[in-house]
Amino acid sequence: MDVDYLEISGGRPLGGEINVQGSKNAVLPILAACIPGAGECVIENCPLIRDTEDTFHIMRALGYCISRTGDAVRITPADTETYTVERMEAVRIRSSVLFLGALLGKMKKAVLPLPGGCAIGKRPIDLHLRALEALGARFEIGETITAWTDGLYGTEIDLEFPSVGATENTILAAVMAKGETVIRNAAREPEVDELCAFLRQRGASVRREADGSIWVDGQKTLGPAVYRMKADRIVSGTYLLAAAAAGGQVRLINESGETLSALRAVLSQMGAVCSAGENGITVCAAQRVRPVPYLETAPYPGFPTDLQSPLLAVLAGADGESTVCETIFERRFCTAGELLKFGAKIGTRGRCAHITGVPRLHGAAADAPDLRGGAALVLAALQAEGRSVIRNTGYIARGYEDIARDLALLGADIRWADDKAE
Ligand code: UD1
Repeated sequence: MDVDYLEISGGRPLGGEINVQGSKNAVLPILAACIPGAGECVIENCPLIRDTEDTFHIMRALGYCISRTGDAVRITPADTETYTVERMEAVRIRSSVLFLGALLGKMKKAVLPLPGGCAIGKRPIDLHLRALEALGARFEIGETITAWTDGLYGTEIDLEFPSVGATENTILAAVMAKGETVIRNAAREPEVDELCAFLRQRGASVRREADGSIWVDGQKTLGPAVYRMKADRIVSGTYLLAAAAAGGQVRLINESGETLSALRAVLSQMGAVCSAGENGITVCAAQRVRPVPYLETAPYPGFPTDLQSPLLAVLAGADGESTVCETIFERRFCTAGELLKFGAKIGTRGRCAHITGVPRLHGAAADAPDLRGGAALVLAALQAEGRSVIRNTGYIARGYEDIARDLALLGADIRWADDKAE
């Protein structure tokens, strides 16, 4: 089998403009939200990534017909009464757990393998299960989760932590529950609001209240919808950070920057100039940025954990010392070990990384440890002197349509290669 890797010659400043793919973390719950109700749903600007492909496999096995024309995906409901999620794809993607709420709502029963995802931490699902239980679900858990209910009933749920997935799973079940549900301490991530907007378009009664909680009035008839995905804020963030890593000027045409305020504050701390308007977001950065004395990841609107690894790569070449602390996923610092291969000076202690920026990283061969960690290695290679090779790119393909295509359009010297070509 051919093994794809990325080959990058670093040291060139970036320059150019691109459109950013649709959001992965928004489309995955939206695909699960196509399960209940009737009528075709069309998702435009649907990203063509491994996680959506795996989700389509799961949905086809449930009897849904999925077809793609250009950037739009059409989902036609199933006649079948299947409630079992197939093992192979489900164990690969964490978001497969969202089929629990969606299938319970539709079929009153769901069987699915314990979900997978990136190797970035423990990632339990206790909050999902507790919230669904409060709505009336019962579970048996072994290698698979078997869930059933005699009927879902709206209630008040107070999440112990504002988990994105648990909030989404609860919404997916609550739209089919009898009566009103209020989710307190709900995740404030914009992807949750995209899910609500999509469900409203299908006819659901769901909204975010002024205090951040989510209110759902269940059992509305869910019909067809056409929905256009917004730009993926994490992919946008990766490319803005790429400009900070390599220097240069980059414009993201379809990114409003509204959901990137924490990153924009960090970019300006690093000395990069960012401006957002009707024509997208533009960043302009010198070849060597300033360090960030202290930063913690946090739930939205804080600095996103998904951009922590790419930021680490930028700070590895900054002009001074930085400290970055990870508060969401404990194993993200696997990336630091790979960055050392480029000559980075990073020490990790518990949940914090201390970075001493070096004047120039050097090219290296490194292995993507997870999805965003893989993107971080690409950013290290862009600023490094000489040639780099990034292997294990399957992780990167889970969330980036084509990172080499995008960065090449922005002026990087980057290409896909395989062992046959060596
Ligand atoms: C989603 C995103 C992921 C992002 C993360 C945080 C998708 C597909 N993935 O993941 O890219 O990094 O939000 O913004 O949208 N937790 C529990 N029990 C639970 C659920 C979560 O303890 O039942 C913990 C997790 O271990 C983690 C924290 O809560 O420490 C955050 O997890 P959560 O917000 O649920 O992230 P995901 O939905 O998995």
